[in-house]
Amino acid sequence: MANFALVLAAGKGTRMRTKLPKCAFPILKKPMIEYIVENLEASEIDESFLVVGHEKEVIIDLIGERVQYAFQEEQLGTGHAALMAKSLLGDKKGTTLILLGDMPLIDNEIINKILSTHEKSNNDLTVVTSTFDNPQGYGRILRDQYGRIKAIKEEKNATEQEKQINEINTGIYAVNNRLLFETLNKIEKDPLKQEYYLTDIVELLSDTYKVGTYAIRNQERVMGINDLVAVSEAEKILRNDINRALMLKGVSMINPETITIGHNVKIEGNVTINPNTTITGSSKISEGAIIGPNTEIHNGIIHENVEVKHSLIFDSEVHTRTTIGPFAHLRNNANIGRDNRVGNFVEIKKSTTKANTKMSHLAYIGDSEVGSNVNFGSGSVTVNYDGINKHKTVIGNDVFIGCNTNLIAPIKIEDNVFIAAGSTVTKDIPKGALAIARGHQINKEDYAKNLIKPKPKNSD
Ligand code: UD1
Ligand code: MG
Repeated sequence: MANFALVLAAGKGTRMRTKLPKCAFPILKKPMIEYIVENLEASEIDESFLVVGHEKEVIIDLIGERVQYAFQEEQLGTGHAALMAKSLLGDKKGTTLILLGDMPLIDNEIINKILSTHEKSNNDLTVVTSTFDNPQGYGRILRDQYGRIKAIKEEKNATEQEKQINEINTGIYAVNNRLLFETLNKIEKDPLKQEYYLTDIVELLSDTYKVGTYAIRNQERVMGINDLVAVSEAEKILRNDINRALMLKGVSMINPETITIGHNVKIEGNVTINPNTTITGSSKISEGAIIGPNTEIHNGIIHENVEVKHSLIFDSEVHTRTTIGPFAHLRNNANIGRDNRVGNFVEIKKSTTKANTKMSHLAYIGDSEVGSNVNFGSGSVTVNYDGINKHKTVIGNDVFIGCNTNLIAPIKIEDNVFIAAGSTVTKDIPKGALAIARGHQINKEDYAKNLIKPKPKNSD
């Protein structure tokens, strides 16, 4: 039997009060909807359909052709949203798993378990429920005297007594596909909220069809993200899960509650992560590396035994045994060779270095190709921008660049060059040369007294 997924992600997310549509909002820097689509792909779902509407381009940009799209132009409620998939899905034979786009913590194991329970119990509709200590904001499960589910009551429509019910609707349902679309047509607009509630399918089906429930014990997995408080709670849950799994794999974490590791980051064993460190995107950290404290890495490839302290690394790669920081910033395809030293207040953008190169203090290296054994003195700058265009600097091997040197690009410095401190270099330097590009010093004997007046006594 075929399994379909129908994910509702067309809503505005008014309670979020954010600019981004809710389902595109990031949890640990990854959009909520991506978590759901990844889990569907890893589960026993054969085809997935996503209902989009509000700011649909943003969601489509993120997910692309991984799913098929249905469109809900006006946000008239979850029942109406599901109906929008009728022309794509309505005639197919099989089971449809309905999911809401604001539950990123659901995983593929839960999805498979729901599908198998639905099939085994021969239900026409299975409503996935949970029991929450604080059920506020969720639809409540109403049962008859025999304990059978008969309806779902939304918080807004519930009486004070119904609000005391702790059993809630997670918003996930497994349902016979054709029956679903026949029933969606029958939902009427709720007079209070002026929306078509998907939850009404329970009342419409419970008299004539087999409607059951499946209870999720791990409540955290099915929380709906409706506001930014829930975003931070979801991030905390995810962060704890990820950190725990890494620690059990041999990643040492100092104060793990201050460490955030993204869902798709790969970290090998025997790595140490110090406090206040965030590693996200498709970063990879190899064995023996020591990362942090106070470090942010996004899409960074860090090789064996690298040390990074108090630094930022974005979309860049650092090779074996190199040390980064404190207070260094690598970005936009910086590729730093092995055994380099990138020290205090050094920024490197879109540049490569080979082995054993050092820039220990106060340097900017942009759009450059740098060889091995190059020493950048403190205050060295590749002057890559003329106000209109960016230009390239090429530096060979075994080059010594004295402190406070400006290399005005485009420029080429060949191997074995020595540049005197304080030089502003505007011309290429041939192999083996000493370059001095600064004004000559003049010493005027006994002249300083004309410029320095003696200070009156007791002054500062
Ligand atoms: C919904 C359920 C509630 C359940 C809760 C679980 C209904 C009526 N209520 O409430 O019983 O306990 O989820 O988290 O279904 N959406 C659309 N189009 C719309 C409206 C919403 O696509 O017109 C999408 C949203 O993008 C969102 C999802 O449906 O991803 C749920 O909408 P939301 O407003 O968050 O519903 P809840 O109030 O949380
Ligand atoms: Mg919700």
